[in-house]
Amino acid sequence: MSQPGKTKFQIDLRRHLREQDIDDNLIHLITEIAEASKYIINSIRTGDLGVAGTSNLYGEKQLALDVLADRILRKRLDHSRVVANIMSEEMDEIIPISPDCAGKYSVAFDPLDGSSLVDVNLAVGTIVSIFEGCDLLQPGRNQVAALYVLYGPRTTLIYSTGNGVHEFALNTLMEYTLLQENIKIESKGNLYSPGGQRNLYTPGVEAFTNHLEERGVKLRYSGGFVPDINQILLKGRGIFYYPHLQGLPQGKLRLLFELSPMAYLIEQAGGAASNGHQPILDLQPDQIHGRAPVFIGCKEDVALAEEFIRKYEVESPPQVGKKSSKAVHSN
Ligand code: AHG
Ligand code: MN
Ligand code: MN
Repeated sequence: MSQPGKTKFQIDLRRHLREQDIDDNLIHLITEIAEASKYIINSIRTGDLGVAGTSNLYGEKQLALDVLADRILRKRLDHSRVVANIMSEEMDEIIPISPDCAGKYSVAFDPLDGSSLVDVNLAVGTIVSIFEGCDLLQPGRNQVAALYVLYGPRTTLIYSTGNGVHEFALNTLMEYTLLQENIKIESKGNLYSPGGQRNLYTPGVEAFTNHLEERGVKLRYSGGFVPDINQILLKGRGIFYYPHLQGLPQGKLRLLFELSPMAYLIEQAGGAASNGHQPILDLQPDQIHGRAPVFIGCKEDVALAEEFIRKYEVESPPQVGKKSSKAVHSN
């Protein structure tokens, strides 16, 4: 993929995008989002960590950084000339940017995922999902690109346009240069990242978690979706789940701008992403802020989660109030 003669570290994001067989407008869009991330970095490093005094549709207090990051991205997308509609975690509804769809893209994004972790100096990220044309309420399988930026000890950007998953790091000149391309995930992992309160786990998820712990997998959970997924992608092993919980059947994470883009990237890397019954990418969103349970990472581990749920919650549904937590498999 990289150009002969050039060491891959000199390949910047724009050059790498030009090597993909994609439209110039999509290249422009992705590079504009990458540029916006540099202003978000600055706002995280120096910005006001306080509360913006407003709340989003979920009734979650918007931190000043959430609103600031949202504005930075919105402005870039607005001026890009290649965007039809946008939608974000911080917006109440889809915002039309251009009346015509031809040659344009629609973008759903989480401007600052894990924002509540900034004041404890943990890693946070921006998550972006891109569809061709005007329609954002499509199954994630129809995305033409997905990316995230991870604001950690290093700032890195991971993208795919359907031809593998590639990682870039921001250098001292504020350029994203290629670190590695065509990242692959193994079929079975050795770490797990269990979200949500354990005491609210349903029998199948509880049994799956017990199985993983009996298998001796290591627990790695930061509370930030982007760093938690990034760890599984780059270590090539593991499973993250934010499951359906007792009293929260759809879990916590939003389909449009958290789960679909991450599922697209992980499937491009040879992993899997499920809501416990079917692939995340096959879910038809019925509303812009819909949530779904998620099990995402190594293919075999995701399939095993589905098997435990099927066995404990579909074939033999628990009586109300009862929970069995013995493991199903000994291996
Ligand atoms: P956001 O900050 O955009 O609302 O997302 C936070 C999400 C996600 O980053 C993480 O996986 C999950 O919240 C963690 O939830 P808990 O704090 O309930 O573990
Ligand atoms: Mn989020
Ligand atoms: Mn967010």
